[in-house]
Amino acid sequence: MKNDKNENYLIPEHVAIILDGNGRWAKKKNMPRNYGHVKGSENLEKVCKAADELGIKYITVYAFSTENWKRPEEEVSALMKLLRNYLKDCVKKANKNNMRIRVIGEINRLDKDIRDAIMELDEVSKKNTGLNLTIAINYGARDEMIRAMRKAMQDAKEDKFKIEDFNEESFGEYLDTKGMPEPDLMIRTSGEQRLSNFLLWQLAYTEFYFTDVLWPDFDKKELEKAIQYYNKRERRYGGLA
Ligand code: FPP
Repeated sequence: MKNDKNENYLIPEHVAIILDGNGRWAKKKNMPRNYGHVKGSENLEKVCKAADELGIKYITVYAFSTENWKRPEEEVSALMKLLRNYLKDCVKKANKNNMRIRVIGEINRLDKDIRDAIMELDEVSKKNTGLNLTIAINYGARDEMIRAMRKAMQDAKEDKFKIEDFNEESFGEYLDTKGMPEPDLMIRTSGEQRLSNFLLWQLAYTEFYFTDVLWPDFDKKELEKAIQYYNKRERRYGGLA
């Protein structure tokens, strides 16, 4: 990808996305909210393809937060049905697309068949070397950090490390994102400018891009705009913080 001076763009290695605005998108079309979610999940596939073509290596998306259980029961069950089908579809397609697909979040609260699909997906896509897609389901960053601390405290109790040796790097090893690079760019669609408990630890140095475009309308062109913005920020502040 080139800019107007024909210089090469820096492509972020890892892009995190808060997929927002499915409900409003559907409302604008006089359709039920769940139709927006269906279109939103279809759009994720298109954006992953675009990201892969642009050379992005990691995409991490917020699909269902720990807060989303508070939505009306009918919407929660429609979202779960969508996720269930999406994950089963991923199991079939991951190898064909050479995609490594992971799920982060507290998966123990999910139905058994969804947990099985998550496990199977992890297993079948383990060796794939293409795009890394990470889907956050029943995810909340505070919950992730508490789970990490519990595991670390247990290990400390069992003398697996000395407390004074515990540092940022070791904490990262207990997080769901263990082994992944931190996001370079975080995109939130639909005009909201909040983190909503997404990757609070991992986004410490990430550039943020907010757009009014609703998630089902966010396409390759919009992704390129976000990358252009990222390049402007990088040039201005590159390397400082
Ligand atoms: C925000 O839109 C979106 C969600 C709560 C869920 C995101 C889920 C999907 C895109 C579909 C399932 C995902 C996968 C990976 C299969 P909103 O409902 O908050 O929209 P609104 O703010 O306009 O009401």
